[in-house]
Amino acid sequence: MSRKFTITTAIDYVNAKPHLGHAYEKITADAIARAHRALGRDVFFLIGNDEHGTKIEKSAAAAGVSPQEWVDRMAEVYQSTYEKLLISWDGFIRTTEERHHSGVREILARVRANGWIRRDKYTGWYCEGCEAFYTEKDLVDGKCPNHDTEPRWVEEENWFFRLSDFRDRLLAHIRENPGFIRPESRRNEVVAFLEGGLEDLSISRAGVKWGIPFPEDPNAVVYVWFDALTNYISGVGFGTDPAEFARRWPASVHVVGKDITRFHCVIWPAMLMAADIELPECVFGHGFIYQSGTKMSKSLGNIVNPLDVVDVTGADALRYFLIRELTYGKDGDFSWDAFIARYNAELANDLGNLVKRTTDMTARFLGGEISAGADTGKDRTGLRADAERVTATVIRAWEDFDLSGALESTWSLVRRANQVIQEKAPWELAKDDLRRAELTGVLDELLEAIRIVAELAAPAIPGKTDEIRARLGLAGGASAPWTESTVWRHRPGWRVAPGDPVFPRIDRKKEPEKSEPATEAVSKRAQKKAKRAAPAATGPAASIGIEQFRDVELRVATVLEAVPVEGADRLLQLTLDLGDEKRQVVSGIARHYAPEDLPGRQVIVVANLAPATIRGVESRGMILAAESGGRLALLAPGHEVAPGTRVS
Ligand code: MSP
Repeated sequence: MSRKFTITTAIDYVNAKPHLGHAYEKITADAIARAHRALGRDVFFLIGNDEHGTKIEKSAAAAGVSPQEWVDRMAEVYQSTYEKLLISWDGFIRTTEERHHSGVREILARVRANGWIRRDKYTGWYCEGCEAFYTEKDLVDGKCPNHDTEPRWVEEENWFFRLSDFRDRLLAHIRENPGFIRPESRRNEVVAFLEGGLEDLSISRAGVKWGIPFPEDPNAVVYVWFDALTNYISGVGFGTDPAEFARRWPASVHVVGKDITRFHCVIWPAMLMAADIELPECVFGHGFIYQSGTKMSKSLGNIVNPLDVVDVTGADALRYFLIRELTYGKDGDFSWDAFIARYNAELANDLGNLVKRTTDMTARFLGGEISAGADTGKDRTGLRADAERVTATVIRAWEDFDLSGALESTWSLVRRANQVIQEKAPWELAKDDLRRAELTGVLDELLEAIRIVAELAAPAIPGKTDEIRARLGLAGGASAPWTESTVWRHRPGWRVAPGDPVFPRIDRKKEPEKSEPATEAVSKRAQKKAKRAAPAATGPAASIGIEQFRDVELRVATVLEAVPVEGADRLLQLTLDLGDEKRQVVSGIARHYAPEDLPGRQVIVVANLAPATIRGVESRGMILAAESGGRLALLAPGHEVAPGTRVS
């Protein structure tokens, strides 16, 4: 039997819709899962939703629905997003499921029976954004280091997990298992944290209702992190299906973001030790994806919905970009410029052209077919040696969490094949009947190289590699494991089906409106778009909590100056007076307002929007307008107010 490989991701808080950060984590973990399937492993890929806690209770209340109704609707939103992103999960765990409750009760019972739980009074700080307890020294200027908000002072009679007793065992485990925390930078962080000492952890929340009832304490629920972390075992049968649990546990890797690596490398292994359960082999703490230098967390209100990108280019392009652009484990940026540059260069040009030119030439010069018995197999191009070398490097990279490196090496084969086309010039060979065998051999080897590229790139771009395989006349569906499928001439003979480019070039104008500045917050177009993206017109995705609304800083500003932006007939560059500062904002209102009509007018500006460069001009903010019947009206206060006044 093949070796098991159980891979998990963090389970997402469902207080709002999924964003690009969630997509990044699921896409990268999915690529790893797919690579390990190709390596012939018995893979189980677990994802899920974190559905308890105060944050979620509040989102539901803001939407006027019960927490259960909210999390049910959000489960659909998350799952349909992940389907769209081609995430191939084997298990999806929700913390409101009965099987999860059983798992939590079971681990608590074991930890308690082993003497690791005590009752005590808790006094301290609690950040609802993190759902975490903080000591004074954790806070920065009295605020949560992650959310920059003031935590709440809490005094509760609670149940405590004797976490502090596990410090030495945890340090010993990390020392003896260098692969337990990856990458190394995260291991160093965790070791430093542990060396600073540990405090016991309150694992119940008094007076909170939306959670798993704490056994024998009707007034409390299980602390949301103790609850959530247990998903990794309840999702594979712990507490309900011992045979499945024995088959899937311990996990090979927990893929989580850097902000929560500590929970997974300190609290979680200590919980498992306390319950006499084996530890996972590895926790991989990936980096964050930022846009314009700002963290895209829901609490900060700066969200890019991955679907905006997918609707324009398809899931594969986003997957490719995210996997290729960031070194796994490090932070990186998403920008439309970088995305389009990589897409056009590496997908449309390098791979897309290779497929198109080779299949077109096979159709044109050889009637689309090369029979198994044709004059092939002479290694006329050297591509065989290249493919063998690249395959070995790519497999090592996938096994070693070097996701970007795996694609980089795969693309070295793509580029080599493109060079072969230039060097061998099949169109010249086709002019000479005496060189037909050579022509056949060259095209056969190019097709074979493309086939191997498709195998190696499949974990990252599974939709498009299926399409490429179909162009080569190969049956759809799962291919053989890499040990077979990457063997040169695994597939002799071809019947190609050329077609349109697999990656049509992106015309910059197709960039989703969302990343453009200006007026769309209340425009009809945006409303229509929001309606399409929302699961139901009144569904949770359409509503936001009051906190989220408060995160948007709306201010009154007076226009000081307006000038056209060179080369952009829709855009005006405005200088605004915001009371205590002057601001430059680029706005798409040029077709509706003449520059000379604007100075002196008051407008409403989203003042805390991340800065963006539009047509080479920096824009810091967005002004609001409403569109009706093709006409645009700038929003303004009913009478003049002091510039800088906050709108609430
Ligand atoms: N519910 C907890 C996890 C419990 S796991 C037992 C949670 N949820 S979350 O929705 O806030 O985040 C889910 C995952 O997305 C986390 O691993 C988090 O690090 C990751 N990301 C959130 N924003 C991110 C980026 N901007 N970039 C990359 N990943 C990020 O934390």
